[in-house]
Amino acid sequence: MPEKPITPALFSPDVQAMVDEFFILQSRYTAAMREVQTKLEILDDDFHACHRRNPIHHIESRIKTIPSMIEKLRRKNHAVSMSSAVENLADIAGIRVICSYLEDVYTVARLLTSQDDVRVLHVRDYIRQPKANGYRSLHLILEIPVFLQQGRINVPVEVQLRTIAMDFWASLEHSMRYKAQGDVPEDVTRELMETSQAVAALDRRMQNLHDRIDSIRTNTSE
Ligand code: GTP
Ligand code: MG
Repeated sequence: MPEKPITPALFSPDVQAMVDEFFILQSRYTAAMREVQTKLEILDDDFHACHRRNPIHHIESRIKTIPSMIEKLRRKNHAVSMSSAVENLADIAGIRVICSYLEDVYTVARLLTSQDDVRVLHVRDYIRQPKANGYRSLHLILEIPVFLQQGRINVPVEVQLRTIAMDFWASLEHSMRYKAQGDVPEDVTRELMETSQAVAALDRRMQNLHDRIDSIRTNTSE
């Protein structure tokens, strides 16, 4: 804990202590998120330098808010405290990598996870095995070193990789589910699943078109 409160003393001492603890926590997870984001940007630039195109379309990042941490701890029956959040939540820092093509998702994931300061804690491949509702993405929980005044600490970061088409589907499905407050009619659920299959087919076709263009370019430059 810092010797002096780092935020203006607006609260009672115990609440103040919790607020200060959260600020420290947030700065550590933000640092880890920046480290991973920089790694991704460097990989994207290097790929562009070698292949004249970007595998990453864009990157989004976010730090979980306190209300969202509390909601998840409660939902998963964990104690509600900062130490419990550190212990039980692997997605306090989250990065979403939206890639141009299907193969780019796996290329970026391989290039990132093969770096020797990146430890892979968990992989969930919802592209090879989509969720029952049709959700597709590659989820990685990584651990990354962050160097602070007192030395090195390892911080987990959730990285979600998906194509533009998968992102389009996930974003609209999420807002529909939110609007329906979890009560999505069965026929809508079924049709959403069908749209997810259409998205997967689209991704395969776009990959195929890209590969054909690529092979023309490779043949003409030989
Ligand atoms: P959360 O408690 O939501 O973090 O789930 P989890 O810890 O069991 O992990 P999971 O890999 O299932 O999901 C993590 C994140 O992936 C979610 O917070 C969403 O951002 C995204 N996600 C997972 N499932 C879906 C889905 O069905 N639809 C959409 N739109 N996003 C999803
Ligand atoms: Mg989450």
